[in-house]
Amino acid sequence: MTPTPGSDAATQLAAPADPVVPPLDMLKALEPALARGLDLHRAKATEWFPHDYVPYEVGRNYVEEPWEEKDSDLSPIARVSLEVNLLTEDNLPYYHLALWNTFGQEGAWGEWVRLWTAEEGRHAIVLRDYLTVTRGLDPVALERGRMDQVSRGYYPGWDGSPDPLGGVVYTTLQELATRIAHRNTGVATEDPLIRKLTARIATDENLHHVFYRDLGTEALAIDPSAMMMAINREVVGFAMPGIEIPEFRAKAVQIAKAGIYDLRIHHDQVVLPVLFKHWKIDQLTGLTDEAEEARDGVMNYLAMLDATATMYEEKRAAAAG
Ligand SMILES: [Fe+2]
Ligand SMILES: [Fe+2]
Repeated sequence: MTPTPGSDAATQLAAPADPVVPPLDMLKALEPALARGLDLHRAKATEWFPHDYVPYEVGRNYVEEPWEEKDSDLSPIARVSLEVNLLTEDNLPYYHLALWNTFGQEGAWGEWVRLWTAEEGRHAIVLRDYLTVTRGLDPVALERGRMDQVSRGYYPGWDGSPDPLGGVVYTTLQELATRIAHRNTGVATEDPLIRKLTARIATDENLHHVFYRDLGTEALAIDPSAMMMAINREVVGFAMPGIEIPEFRAKAVQIAKAGIYDLRIHHDQVVLPVLFKHWKIDQLTGLTDEAEEARDGVMNYLAMLDATATMYEEKRAAAAG
């Protein structure tokens, strides 16, 4: 949908004197778009079963044969990336809590948060079942990693106050980033079964991404200034979920060096298409002074991100000889 000030949701707002819609009113104003998004999501999401992706015929009893390093056929980078992806998915209770607190539990918002949580639950199930049955990763280390992360508790970017527009921006970027990270991890494993499984997860992440992105488009139509400021808050300093995983930064560097998810991908394949192709932030008019500043802030940040991505590419090329 093209952001137009005269859209249905925009006309529901009764206070044109105040261009910034308070967060809770924004949730209300987005409800018609939310209902459309839910219908569209339900029409596109197809049922699938984690057990269909797991080769149970290769499974062996761990009590009799505990895991050993030589059991895994996966390359070191495939192991790191699968571990980070699985632990990230394991943190679902906290993502659920963050969305529950951001969007609420009532009506269509609650309906979406519950449906999203149910769909996301499959991702850790399928990854763990596959890796346990095939002995791809040490199940003891994996379980300790899950316990460590979930018992500490982590909300991505959560500072305690509900920020619905920030939530829409963050999830739009994060779902797309996760789609790419899962798919590229599958490719890096060079294992056709993992590739199939991660492609299936990526399909889910893409539908989630489209759902949030369309809400973002509608939010821009309702209050471009408030949304522009939310974009600035979330794009600058965006952190992937999983940042609390032990040694996450070192692992993220390995994942970046392998080209699975790096700054170049983040800039070119995540932030640019969302902000310019879909949300057209460069074409917004009538922004408040504060929102204009926020747009300048985003543009400056993107220039810096692009330059940093290039620097890392050059370093990597030089190291490769
Ligand atoms: Fe997921
Ligand atoms: Fe998702």
